[in-house]
Amino acid sequence: MVHGVDAVAGILSRCSERHLNIVLRTGLLFLLIACSGAVVAASPPVDVIADCVLCHGTDGRGNEVVRAPRIAGMEAWYLERQLVAFQRGWRGTQVADDPGREMRLVTVMLDAEEFGPIAAWFAAQETPDPQPTLTGAVERGRQHYSLCAQCHGARGEGRQSLGAPALAGQNDWYLARQLHLYRHRLRGQVREDSYGMQMLAMIGTLIDDQAVLDVVAYINTFSERPGIAVAAPHADGPGS
Ligand code: HEC
Ligand code: HEC
Repeated sequence: MVHGVDAVAGILSRCSERHLNIVLRTGLLFLLIACSGAVVAASPPVDVIADCVLCHGTDGRGNEVVRAPRIAGMEAWYLERQLVAFQRGWRGTQVADDPGREMRLVTVMLDAEEFGPIAAWFAAQETPDPQPTLTGAVERGRQHYSLCAQCHGARGEGRQSLGAPALAGQNDWYLARQLHLYRHRLRGQVREDSYGMQMLAMIGTLIDDQAVLDVVAYINTFSERPGIAVAAPHADGPGS
């Protein structure tokens, strides 16, 4: 057994430069402790994956403690676009948006050319649907959702042709948080972020926190993200 200074030196020597950068920039000391485990993770295609799962959980299953949502099984096109959105400051630049700012710091340390492979890796991961953590009036939520379905699909499966991601299978606390961000003009307010602005234009129908809870409670009733985690060989074209 090693103790004290020796133990810290041991962990540091096994941390990648990126890990240390994240630790220094975010002050999240638990990342440092997690380093020793992360570097032995099963051969990820790119070393950055190990950094992502420190916050997003094993295989990207979501981690409420640090408010990092599920990214496992997420559509690669959407995941990649969000990495771009953070890097360009469309997301994660507002003072009142701590989780967004943490995520943005990660992307500014990355080369945009890495986004495609990273997105593909997480899109291929299968993790269990998250447990619901919020409650709301499902029937009222269903009524609110009739508008949302136009873009996000009747079962929250998403529509690539409209740029709208799947909502089914996402952590409910994360969905509620994003709706809160839109309601308070903390996401979707940058002109270049055309998809974010489209979503922003739709948020007015959720008039208060209860409406947010209700619609999220209804989204919780959708099962697995249909047709996303497992791509069927003869599936119809994307977004159809
Ligand atoms: C320091 C912790 C941390 C690390 C490391 C981290 N993330 Fe995040 N990530 C977050 C948090 C917190 C959010 C939620 C931001 C919000 O609520 O707006 C987030 C959000 C995201 C989103 C948006 C999801 C959505 O549905 O729009 C994507 C995509 C994402 N992260 C991918 C990654 C990838 C890929 C990596 C590795 C390169 C990574 N993250 C590393 C904390 C982290
Ligand atoms: C006109 C089409 C449209 C409608 C209608 C719409 N959305 Fe969206 N929504 C989008 C698009 C496009 C995005 C992706 C924005 C981006 O890329 O940043 C989005 C993003 C979201 C997100 C963020 C997802 C994530 O992973 O971060 C949530 C949550 C969401 N929508 C919920 C809803 C709800 C609930 C409704 C109904 C009240 C709704 N949307 C109505 C187009 C729409």
